[in-house]
Amino acid sequence: MAINADEFKNALQLWASGVTVVTTHSEKYGAQGMTVTAFSSVSANPPQILVCLNSSADTGEGIAESQCFAVNVLDAEQQDLSGQFAGGSSQEQRFASTDWQHGITGAPILSASLMSLDCKVVDKVRAGTHWIVIGEVHEAICREGTPLLYYRGGYRLLADS
Ligand SMILES: Cc1cc2nc3c(=O)[nH]c(=O)nc-3n(C[C@H](O)[C@H](O)[C@H](O)COP(=O)(O)O)c2cc1C
Repeated sequence: MAINADEFKNALQLWASGVTVVTTHSEKYGAQGMTVTAFSSVSANPPQILVCLNSSADTGEGIAESQCFAVNVLDAEQQDLSGQFAGGSSQEQRFASTDWQHGITGAPILSASLMSLDCKVVDKVRAGTHWIVIGEVHEAICREGTPLLYYRGGYRLLADS
């Protein structure tokens, strides 16, 4: 028998990750974005990554419309943005307080992110409550900085050893 949701969450909180804001832009919905930790590299050749998006997320609908998205890996200085893109505010408010520009696919690139991957959708798989969205990377933008981390339900910073 499978474990229950509480057992699952208790175990998964021990997985440390970076924090991303996944963005898209479509004529129908405009600029949209949401905070996502479920991001992974998939393949280097072809260059593919995946994100897991709750099927109830508005941003997922926008990605289905535009067929493109950007994964913006947050810098340690961008903890506020993570909260801002995690709900409770309109999409206009989420984008109002941060500099961004359209990437080559049209998806919003957040200017102060540590790294941004501009992607076109190549596949989408339904898994439980989420969509696994696989993107081919058309541009990678890397900047100087240190990553924002997420562990045990809280934000963390890298400790220099
Ligand atoms: C640290 C953090 C990580 C999150 N990771 C994910 C994730 O990987 N996938 C997901 O669907 N939602 C995730 N969420 C929740 C979404 O950001 C939130 O539900 C979002 O506002 C929904 O998007 P929408 O506004 O487009 O509907 C996360 C939230 C936080 C604060």
